[in-house]
Amino acid sequence: MCGIVGYVGPRPVVSVLLDGLKRLEYRGYDSAGVAVVADGQLELRRASGKLYNLEAAIQRAPLAGSYGVGHTRWATHGRPTEENAHPHRDASGRIVVVHNGIVENYLALKRALEQAGHTFVTQTDTEVIAHLIGNYQQSGLRLAEAVRRAALELTGMFAIAVISADEPDTVVAARSGPPVIIGLGQDENFVASDVTAILHHTRDVVFLEDGHLAVARGDGVQVMDFAGRPAAPPVQRVTWDPIMAEKGGFKHFMLKEIHEQPRAIRETLAGRVSLDDGRVYLDPTKIPDSAWEGFRRVVIAACGTSWHAALVGKSVIEELARLPVEVDYASEFRYRNPLLDEHTLVVVITQSGETADTVAALREAKHRGCPTFAICNVPGSMAAREADGVLLTHAGPEISVASTKAFTSQIVALYLLALYLGQHRAVLSAADVRAHVEQLLALPTKLEATLGQDAALAELSKEFFRASDFLYLGRGVHFPIALEGALKLKEISYIHAEGFPAGEMKHGPNALIDERLPVVMVMPREAGNPASEVRYEKTLSNLQEVKARDGCVIAIVTEGDTQTATLAEHVIPVPAASDALSAVLAVVPLQLLAYHIAVRRGCDVDQPRNLAKSVTVE
Ligand code: G6P
Repeated sequence: MCGIVGYVGPRPVVSVLLDGLKRLEYRGYDSAGVAVVADGQLELRRASGKLYNLEAAIQRAPLAGSYGVGHTRWATHGRPTEENAHPHRDASGRIVVVHNGIVENYLALKRALEQAGHTFVTQTDTEVIAHLIGNYQQSGLRLAEAVRRAALELTGMFAIAVISADEPDTVVAARSGPPVIIGLGQDENFVASDVTAILHHTRDVVFLEDGHLAVARGDGVQVMDFAGRPAAPPVQRVTWDPIMAEKGGFKHFMLKEIHEQPRAIRETLAGRVSLDDGRVYLDPTKIPDSAWEGFRRVVIAACGTSWHAALVGKSVIEELARLPVEVDYASEFRYRNPLLDEHTLVVVITQSGETADTVAALREAKHRGCPTFAICNVPGSMAAREADGVLLTHAGPEISVASTKAFTSQIVALYLLALYLGQHRAVLSAADVRAHVEQLLALPTKLEATLGQDAALAELSKEFFRASDFLYLGRGVHFPIALEGALKLKEISYIHAEGFPAGEMKHGPNALIDERLPVVMVMPREAGNPASEVRYEKTLSNLQEVKARDGCVIAIVTEGDTQTATLAEHVIPVPAASDALSAVLAVVPLQLLAYHIAVRRGCDVDQPRNLAKSVTVE
């Protein structure tokens, strides 16, 4: 979603801002702008579309300064035009604001300001914030105090960064909802919505609390709450390597991230499993041991790809911990009246830890007295900080909008949670846990082998990139994988794709099948597992039904499956694994297929149209 960068210090500020905005591009945006102050003069450049348009505008009319703010905007209120791009000015034109989030009471505030003589030039809610702050500063207040007073008048979600031509070398940032990070440097300081924007300059950061504001100057940073009380938040050192947020020789971040999955999973497992004592270790939580033993139910809330991971997690937790699991879209959960009690563990899954609906679901669960647990990839994010327990997936920064390595790491994290619940509930013995841990530890090597199918999938994409629709089918844990395969394809190639449980075909999807419809069947099989064998046989019958209607089948199978190979047009083998872990292996060819099809169609793979990496609005 929108991205914020602010800088105060000795470097050329415009380059620092543009560099930061480039590193935030992955979040998704449709216009951008910067504002800087030099010698008491505030100057602004904005452009609709991609950052190169903003760079061109700056080249046509260069600007320089000693402090400034920049923004990438993902349109919510008002079209993605240059006029609506941030930064936005106050009435005097001497204050500018960049903003992530939505001000819910902006119409009422706007009406009141208009009655007091203010004229607005954009349709944005952000312009109202600028005018409010301007009003306070006009009455003689310092910028930080003006921002604080304005913040108290706003309802909704906002992360803002503000500069004034009348307050030299100062960037003020405030947070109510979306994250604000303050980067600490030597004689320089940074403000950003995401650590990746500033990681090249500093790893020492302060995650601003909700309801706090920071005043960043070259020589230091002061933090206070919205009541004006000084605060001393801890300085945290971010261990992410900035190189991890670069393409490293791959054509796209998505391809790089697909290939990083073995490493992401190794790191997610590292230090959390012990073959010696047959136990899984999670970081300490605020949830007491007695509660872990007494849970009667698990509810998982998530959005998008994370929701698909949740569906895999349901099977794994029910199987290994013998606890009933419900999976909900976070956006549905929060607006229902869910049945929750202290014996229900509410798990949220969110790569970014910022998704507005998922964070709201977490807060709703806490409000109702449930122990909460987050599976999250971003340290310091809202979900990671607010949940009673956290399991961080160590996938490293995921830049591509379409999630890949975060998804497979989430499944592994859920597997660990299932084992942890199983051992606490005494459903699993140390020997049981050890057997599962052995399988988990073997997974990265099997993933490496699966990635060897890349060239075959690139070849396959030649045959299918002109298709207008795709159907994905699977049973059991492979049903969410079918959903995820369909989502990957539609997100990045804009081809219509649907995922169904294979057993549901005859209740509708069969009507779609003809010789033009590629049908991807996710059907690995675990030899010796009766439930898996039955599902495989049933799916094989479904495959026959597709063939009988002239459908063209691409089957994801376990290596050595000669039976399917005689029936399907195309077969992509993955290494043999347990039923649950074959889900992790089977999604890889689907990620690669979507990727190669999108590349052939000339799509913007890493930043698909209309989508954002983290959806911080509802
Ligand atoms: C957006 C992204 C998806 C992601 C979803 C949930 O829609 O484009 O890739 O799966 O948000 O994000 P989260 O960060 O909560 O996992």
